[in-house]
Amino acid sequence: MLKTNDNTLFVDGVSALELADEFGTPLYVYSEHRIKENLNEIRTSFLNKYPNTHAAYACKAFCTLYMCKLLDEEGFWIDVVSGGELFTAIKAKFPPGRIEFNGNNKSEEELVMALDYGVERIVVDNVSELYHLEKLCMDSGKKVKILFRITPAVTSDTHEYITTGRKDSKFGIPLDEDILYPLIQYAIESKAFEFLGFHFHVGSQLLDTKSHLSALEVILELMLATKQKFGYDIKDFNMGGGFGIKYTDSDNPLGISDFVDPIMNRLDEFCSDNNLIRPHVSMEPGRFIIGDAGIQLYRIGNIKEIPGVKTYASVDGGMTDNMRPGLYGAKYDATIANKADEPKNAVVDISGKCCESTDILIKNLKCTKPETGDLLAVFSTGAYGFSMANNYNKIRIPAVVVISDEKARLIVKRQSYDDMILNEMI
Ligand code: LLP
Repeated sequence: MLKTNDNTLFVDGVSALELADEFGTPLYVYSEHRIKENLNEIRTSFLNKYPNTHAAYACKAFCTLYMCKLLDEEGFWIDVVSGGELFTAIKAKFPPGRIEFNGNNKSEEELVMALDYGVERIVVDNVSELYHLEKLCMDSGKKVKILFRITPAVTSDTHEYITTGRKDSKFGIPLDEDILYPLIQYAIESKAFEFLGFHFHVGSQLLDTKSHLSALEVILELMLATKQKFGYDIKDFNMGGGFGIKYTDSDNPLGISDFVDPIMNRLDEFCSDNNLIRPHVSMEPGRFIIGDAGIQLYRIGNIKEIPGVKTYASVDGGMTDNMRPGLYGAKYDATIANKADEPKNAVVDISGKCCESTDILIKNLKCTKPETGDLLAVFSTGAYGFSMANNYNKIRIPAVVVISDEKARLIVKRQSYDDMILNEMI
C-alpha cells in the first residue's frame, strides 16, 4: 500500500503530495486494496474455512456510505449501534437481512427504525431493553431475532477505556444466575422474539487471545445450561471484535486465524462432548478491517524549538480529527511524505492545533528534520479517527478520499464553515 519513490510517499500508486495539493489537508486517505485484503483474510481464515458463519463490520470504526456500499458488494454484514449508523446503512441501500444492531441504550426511535427497516437481529444489551423491545414488537405485530450480549466478567490486556467485558462494565447482561436464566427463559417463550443465543465483546485493540478464550468458556457453559434447563439449542454465538492491528513497531498483532482457530476448535470439541449442535458463529471486527487501510496527511506549520528540551512541529489538525492519542495515549508512526527517503535523524513531538496541552498526536517521533510546509503522513489511522472527529475549537472535519485502481476519489467532502453553523440560530 505505501511505497516511496523519488523521495515521495505513494499510497497505492498515488503521490501523497498530489493528494494534498488536490484535496487539501488535513486529509483522510484510504486504500481500497488494503480494505479488500483485510476482508480476504477474514474470508480465508474464517468464512471459507468454517461453515455456518458470518462476519459483520463494526461500522463505528469508520461509518460512511462508501463503506456500507463496499461491504455490501463484498457480501459482508454490518453492525450498527445508533440511528445515525443505521440511517447511513439505509441510505447506502445496505440489505436489512445483513444488519445487526448493538448498543447499550437504544432509544425507542432507534428500535422502531430498526424494526421498520427489518434489521436481521438485535443484540439485546440489558433487561430493560428486552421488555421495551418486546412491547414495540407486540405493538407493531413484528417478531425479531435477538441475541443477549453477556458481560463475561473477563479482563483484557488493553487500555482501560476500551475494555468492555469486565463485570463492572456498562455493557451487557451480567452472569448472575437469578438475572440471566429467567431472562433466557423469557426470551425463549416470548412470541415477540426468536432467541438466537449469546454475544460478547471483550475489548478492543487486543494483541492476544486470552480474553476471547476465557469469555468463550462462559458462553459454552451458558449454551449447556440453556439446553439442560430449557431444552433449547442455542442457534448463534457472536464473538464480537477487538482484533488488534499494528500501529507502531512495538505492536505484534495476531492474524484472524490465531483468534478464530482456537475458538472454533474448542466450540466443536465442547459441542461434541456435550451432544450440542454447533451454533452459527459470527464476529464483528471494526479496526481489523479498516485500521491499517487509512493514513492521514497533515501540513506542518509552526515549529517550536525549546533548546535542550524538545522540538514541537505543529500540524493543521489534531485531536479534532484523531482524538485517540489524547484519549487513550494511543501511539502512531509517521513520516514526512516529501522527504520519504531522507535519514530520520530528528526527534520531535507532533502537536495538533487545538487549545489543549493533550493535543499531541505523536510524542518523540523519529523523522527527518521537519520544516514548515512539509507534509506529514501518519499511518494506520483508518479506525476511530474520522468516526470520532469533532468540531472542538470550530475546526472543520477533514475530507476523506479513497484510492482504487491508482485513482483518488472524494468520498466525504471537507466540512465548510457554513456546515458547522447550519443548525445554529441567533
Ligand atoms: N462489537 C462491539 C459490540 C463493540 O463494542 C466494538 C467496539 C466492536 C464490535 C469493534 O471493535 P474493534 O474490532 O474495532 O476493536 N474508540 C476506541 C475503540 C472503541 C471500541 C468500541 N467497541 C479506539 O479508538 O480505540
